[in-house]
Amino acid sequence: MIVLGIETSCDETSAAVVEETGDRARPWRVCSNIVASQVAIHREWGGVVPELSARQHVRDICGVVERALADAASPAIDAVAVTQGPGLVGSLLVGLSFAKAFAWTRGVPVIPVHHLAGHIESLVLEGGEMPMPAVVLVVSGGHTSLYRITTPGSYELLGRTRDDAAGEAYDKVAKLLHLGYPGGPAIDDLARRGNDRAVAFPRMRLTHADRNAPDLPGTRDFSFSGLKTSVLRYVTARRLSLDLTPQDPLPERETIDICASFQRVVVETLLDRLFDAARSYQARSVGIAGGVSANSRLRTDAEQRGHATGIPVFVPAMALSTDNAAMIAAAGLRRFRQGLDTFLDINAEASLVL
Ligand code: KG4
Ligand code: ZN
Repeated sequence: MIVLGIETSCDETSAAVVEETGDRARPWRVCSNIVASQVAIHREWGGVVPELSARQHVRDICGVVERALADAASPAIDAVAVTQGPGLVGSLLVGLSFAKAFAWTRGVPVIPVHHLAGHIESLVLEGGEMPMPAVVLVVSGGHTSLYRITTPGSYELLGRTRDDAAGEAYDKVAKLLHLGYPGGPAIDDLARRGNDRAVAFPRMRLTHADRNAPDLPGTRDFSFSGLKTSVLRYVTARRLSLDLTPQDPLPERETIDICASFQRVVVETLLDRLFDAARSYQARSVGIAGGVSANSRLRTDAEQRGHATGIPVFVPAMALSTDNAAMIAAAGLRRFRQGLDTFLDINAEASLVL
């Protein structure tokens, strides 16, 4: 079976062709994966502007799908998998409408896919099926969620952020330090040269009430807004004492040390929760997916903890860590094989639950 995947939930227009291999350990093969990034458009505004994003998806979708089909050199498409949510509703609608029209003209089914199920599937694309039970952290610009997986394709939420996502904290701290958008790669680069003990930023404390809590004990939740605020306070105080305005950058040495200190707290917080859950649930593997999984320190430290605990660590290839359609096609294939009924009347769901 060969599936065309389409992803338009945020600021990348992506299409990919993924084929089922028949090998149970490595079930999917990526034939093509095209990503048109809108980063240059949103950079000017310091973050993603939903209306601009939707309009750019309309401009890019046909060309991106044509390229994905041409690169795969396979005329036979058996189904179309598309991100149904969560994401920006106008952007999701572009991908979903395109997918329905394409599927209808070819007489093939449309498979709706949850964006985070896609990120989790990026782990399988890179490393093959994960030994079960697995604990997976999905950490991106919009999400920081921890899942337990006992059967591939079904996910139990163990905890998630109560406020900012980790990637969002990266983006906001980068904005504060005038490092541009998106913030994750910029902070990651500078942090390599910094002293990660230079500033003692606090670890998260879950003291505030959880207003939109699902029915979870909450002990495996995350919180990054306190950390972000303490970086803001620290930077404001340093600017004052150096007689700088909020528009001025801090001296480079200080900026680098702030990045390293901030990154240490984020990475340690994420990995403590992940490996703690892995121990409690006797996981035979752990995974880290989503845009923040591209982070160099997160990858190295995760590998070290994996060695120390004897638990294999799955991370996606760099190209599959940020949003892409190959992961959506693969997750769609899994859903289809589990016997999903597909209909053309599916709608975009901005807050779809996994
Ligand atoms: O998964 P993704 O492409 O989109 C969402 O679904 O949100 O994740 C984007 C997020 C952004 O917040 C970006 O700053 C972050 O991933 N990111 C990183 C790195 N590369 C991207 N964060 C930390 N370190 C990186 N190297
Ligand atoms: Zn994503």
